[in-house]
Formats: sequence, C-alpha cells, structure tokens
Amino acid sequence: MPDVLPDALPVAARVVSGIQPTGNLHLGNYLGAIRNWVAMQNSLGPDGTCLFFLADLHALSMPLDPARLRRETVEMAATLLACGIDPTRSVLFNQGQVPQHAELQWLLNGTARMGWLNRMTQWKDKAGKNREGASVALFTYPVLQAADVLLYQATHVPVGEDQKQHLELARDIAQKFNNDFAEPQLGRPLFTLPEPIIPPSAARIMSLRDGSAKMSKSDPSDMSRINLTDGADAIVQKIRKARTDPEPLPSEAEGLDGRAEAANLVTIYASLAGTHVAAVLADHGGSGFGAFKNALADLLVATLEPISTRLRDLLADPRHVEQMLVDGAVRARALAQPTLDAAYKAAGILRPGSL
Ligand code: TYM
Repeated sequence: MPDVLPDALPVAARVVSGIQPTGNLHLGNYLGAIRNWVAMQNSLGPDGTCLFFLADLHALSMPLDPARLRRETVEMAATLLACGIDPTRSVLFNQGQVPQHAELQWLLNGTARMGWLNRMTQWKDKAGKNREGASVALFTYPVLQAADVLLYQATHVPVGEDQKQHLELARDIAQKFNNDFAEPQLGRPLFTLPEPIIPPSAARIMSLRDGSAKMSKSDPSDMSRINLTDGADAIVQKIRKARTDPEPLPSEAEGLDGRAEAANLVTIYASLAGTHVAAVLADHGGSGFGAFKNALADLLVATLEPISTRLRDLLADPRHVEQMLVDGAVRARALAQPTLDAAYKAAGILRPGSL
C-alpha cells in the first residue's frame, strides 16, 4: 500500500500518536493517521513499543460538554480497537489517566516561546478574530502535544499533514530543553527528536462539500465527511451528493490540477484500494462521476462495514473497553515516569524523595 509508511521500522522504534475523542472518527482520521497506526503496530520489531491515546486533556481547549466527553472517550477507544489497534501489542489509554502528560507540559511551558505558539496555524484558525476570548488551553495546546510525545521518547509519530507544524514545534521545544537544561545538568540530551510519519497521498483528505477545506469533525455539515460509524445507505448517499464538476475523469494525474473535489475523490479511492492516483485514472479516466461514485461507494462500504460491525460488538460491553483503558494507563505511567523524573532533575526542581 503506497499510503502506509514506513516499510521498515527500526527494531527499537517508539511510536506515539493521539486523537481527540470529540465526535466520530472520520475517513480523514482513518486514512491520514489510524491506518498507519495499525500498520506500524503490526510491523513493529520485538524491542519496539506503540503508544496510542485519546487526547481528552486537549478537549479542554474548546467548549466542553463533560458527560459527552466521557462517553466519546470510550466510544473513540472502541473505534480504535475496531480499526485494528490491539491492546496486547500497543499501549492504548486516555491522557487523563496519565498525569505525567500535564506535569511535563508545565515544565515545557517554561521552554516554549510565545512567538512560536503565535505562529501555529491551528491556533490562528481556531481562535479566529476572537483571540481575547479563546481559552489559554487553545494557545498552549501544542505544548501539551509536545509533552505527549517527548514523555515517551517517541521516535515516530504517525499523523496527517495538519499536525506537521505541531510536531516541528515539539522538536524545537525538545532541542531547547536539551540545550538549556538537560545537557548542562545531566550531561546528556534528555528528549529524543520525534519524526512525523505522514502518508504521502492521504495526508489531507478534504471535505466532500468543499475541496478547499479538510475533512473535519468540527464541520457543521455531516454530509461533508464519512464517519466510520456510517452505514451503507449513509455512505452511498454522501458519495452521491459529494460535490464534483461537470467534466469526466481525466486519464492522467495532471488533469486533476485545479479540480480539488475530483482530486479528493480519486485520492480517497486510491488510498482505500492501496494503489496510486495514476493507476485509478488509468482504469477510470474518461468515465463520468456517476459510475465512479458508485465504484467508490462500493469500496468504502467494503472497507468500513467490517469496522462498524466490530465497533457495534465492542460497544455492547463498554465496561470491557474502559478496563482496557485502565490497563493501558498503568503501562503508560510506568513508561512515562523515568523521563518525567529526569526532566524535573534537569530543571533543578526538588520533589518527594529527591533530598
Ligand atoms: P485530531 O484528533 O484532529 O486528528 C487525529 C489524526 O487524524 C489526522 N487527520 C487527518 N488526516 C488526513 N486528512 C484529514 N482531513 C484529517 N483530519 C485529521 C490528524 O492529522 C491526526 O493525525 N492534536 C491532535 C491530537 C494529538 C496528537 C498528540 C497527535 C494530541 N497529542 C501527539 C500526535 C501526537 C489532533 O487534534 O488530531
């Protein structure tokens, strides 16, 4: 599959990634990130570790409905399990059960610069013109994200394109903390610089209604996205109504230039079929969108139906899913503690037992 990276992971790879547990998992999350999580989990060497988490602390950055967050955290965990995350091979947990994330974020708040955070496009997009009314958590969000990966010495972070800037910031924070504190105090760098792993073609799956906006949970129109919980009828309906243009499909990739909606549907098809855009166009070039949309809807249903069946089974017993999160958090806390201890030590902060 050209979209699933990398072919070979180093034996001791430490793979870490997260997802916000608000709303449904959609096709953009799946093709941009989660499919890579599963592939990396399944190709990991014996000394490697994968950690995947629900970023519930990040949800505080936007208006919050606590009862809903609690429910959606368990539902999102079940969805990840349904997609193929295996809790015997990966550590699956929610941030809130691992207080080390919030503690390390505070230490890194001393290292991150206002100017760096001010440049983050997600901050600019989400705060919009109302910066004064945005939460402090929305502004410092990328520092928590840096803590999420640095805490575990992540080597590889599978994400979609939209998270690349946050990962670059995490590297800058790691580098500065290493220079300012770790090397002078511990005599060695503390944090590993994480490498983002971004699928080359499904890096950015776009809205079905607007080829210039990414597919997103926060889009008010449910017709803009395919949710992993959508049944066959909803999928067919959404693809049939997806915005396109009047031209038939081109036979070569250059013919998609300036045709964002058409390019998005072909990208989704290629990504699901595990092939390249050029190969899809070689087969479908010249056809109208009616026929192509039918083929795409069939492929989507075939891919997503087994996932939604597994999800229904898992949600029949939410206690079981909650217990998996409790077990995952025990493992995550143990992996996090040595790095957190070293970060406190490097910063010269006395803690229980350090005197
Ligand atoms: P989130 O919850 O918005 O999305 C989860 C993952 O899905 C990817 N993604 C997409 N990929 C392609 N096309 C799209 N339309 C699309 N929409 C979303 C995202 O890039 C992401 O990989 N800040 C993160 C969560 C997070 C995190 C972390 C990620 C918190 N801490 C540490 C990695 C490492 C977020 O809000 O992702």
